[in-house]
Amino acid sequence: MNIRTLQQVIRSVPTSDGAGVQLRRSLGQSHALRLDPFLMLDEFSSENPDDYIAGFPAHPHRGFETVTYMLDGHMLHEDHLGHRGDLRGGGAQWMTAGRGIIHSEMPQQESGRLRGFQLWINLPAREKMRPAAYRDIQPEEIPRAELPGGGSVKVIAGTLETAGDSVAGPIQGLSTAPLFLDVRLPAGGSFVHRLPADHNAFLYPYEGAVGIGAAGSARSLQSHEAGILSAGDGIELSAAAPGARVLLLAARPLREPVVQYGPFVMNTREEIEQAIADYQSGRLA
Ligand code: CO
Repeated sequence: MNIRTLQQVIRSVPTSDGAGVQLRRSLGQSHALRLDPFLMLDEFSSENPDDYIAGFPAHPHRGFETVTYMLDGHMLHEDHLGHRGDLRGGGAQWMTAGRGIIHSEMPQQESGRLRGFQLWINLPAREKMRPAAYRDIQPEEIPRAELPGGGSVKVIAGTLETAGDSVAGPIQGLSTAPLFLDVRLPAGGSFVHRLPADHNAFLYPYEGAVGIGAAGSARSLQSHEAGILSAGDGIELSAAAPGARVLLLAARPLREPVVQYGPFVMNTREEIEQAIADYQSGRLA
């Protein structure tokens, strides 16, 4: 196996979005800091309601997918089509905005910890104007596999291949073939996994730090940093004390032009202008 190495580190920066939700943004903090087809990764984590209570009131999207993965807390999602979805700790929402969605994501708690992630994944040109679609994934629908040397992996998208076994996550069959794993490693634990050689991949430790690469030559990636991986057909991770929790994301790149204006991500300026005109005239979705 040709083990991938750590190629680039994108340190997250504090920012706010929605009506003032405090976030850490790694991928997507500028248009140069993306990893095709991944456009953005935000982490939100706070026990202070002032940091999250204002939520994300109604706003539009067109041309890509948003994935919200909740670790702690409770958010209510509502859209202009009347879909309502509860987002609870351990669950996820996979939203394909397609030609358009106008939605809100509002905390349903006045105290306590709100923690999770929002990931944006681009759609291929031929799917940008498809009808919007959702998957609300309950915590019990996300399988968890125990690792032989300790630790565990939750499989949100794609399939985990372990020795002699495979564990399929609830999201399958998308054209970017995303793999979305939440890996928990104890001190001294390790995780080895194959990845398709032509897929782009990155890691995001959110607790502790991980070593990336073959034992002896591993490079360290700290919490709240996105680590872009080199080409290769496998990954090897290790965790020092006191252990680590890390997201692993991989997907097939689209290799298409990306033109983004806020929540609209298309292939040309003309398509962006059309999205803005459609939104202003109530014809986005
Ligand atoms: Co949104």
